[in-house]
Amino acid sequence: MSQRKLIIALDFANLNDVKKIVEYIDPQQSMVKVGLQLYLAEGKRALDYLSEKGFTIFLDLKLHDIPNTVNKAVKEISNFNVAMTTIHLKGGRDMIEAALESASNTKIIGVSVLTSLNDDDVEEMHGSNFDNQFKRIMKLAETTKIDGIVCSPQELSKLKELNKIKVVPGIRNESSGDDQKRTMSSTEAYKNGADFIVVGRPITQAENIKTAILDYI
Ligand code: C5P
Repeated sequence: MSQRKLIIALDFANLNDVKKIVEYIDPQQSMVKVGLQLYLAEGKRALDYLSEKGFTIFLDLKLHDIPNTVNKAVKEISNFNVAMTTIHLKGGRDMIEAALESASNTKIIGVSVLTSLNDDDVEEMHGSNFDNQFKRIMKLAETTKIDGIVCSPQELSKLKELNKIKVVPGIRNESSGDDQKRTMSSTEAYKNGADFIVVGRPITQAENIKTAILDYI
């Protein structure tokens, strides 16, 4: 898994679109991410297909529920051929430990503070700014056995000491004008300590997908 540092986000509504794209992706070179949209649309069928094609899968469902429910959900996930899956760190220590308990070979990756939230949103919900909230959440990651975290590239510089897998979305090698705001190039993100980068549209919507992949590897 460690050689494949690029995770391509397969944010599609059906398996036919996935099949068209994966023809261009070498499973030895990149991992793939299945998120809520594809999972809800195609479920296990998508995971089985990608697994048969030889892909290492990152299942990003961002679980956040009571510990018992998350424990059972992760048990189901670990029956699939999934290398990494996500939970919300905000679910708390007991929920994190419940997820780890049933994970077997699947790595558990914790989502920190959603990058779609700004200071005002965080203040409204938690009475503190983004940075303070991020630090508190990271303490939780540090003091549990969770395998890794998801963070924006801007947060990487604050995490040099954190000895966990760092999965980093929000990567753009060219300015895109889309909804990603806290972006960084792939080279900079790797240099700043990203173990894996997650890239969707710059690859899946590219005119030349193979060239786009090479640009992010
Ligand atoms: O198309 P794009 O490169 O923006 O896709 C990035 C992927 O990473 C999407 O699947 C998105 O859901 C995910 N993601 C993100 N920001 C986060 C967490 C996940 O963009 N904070």
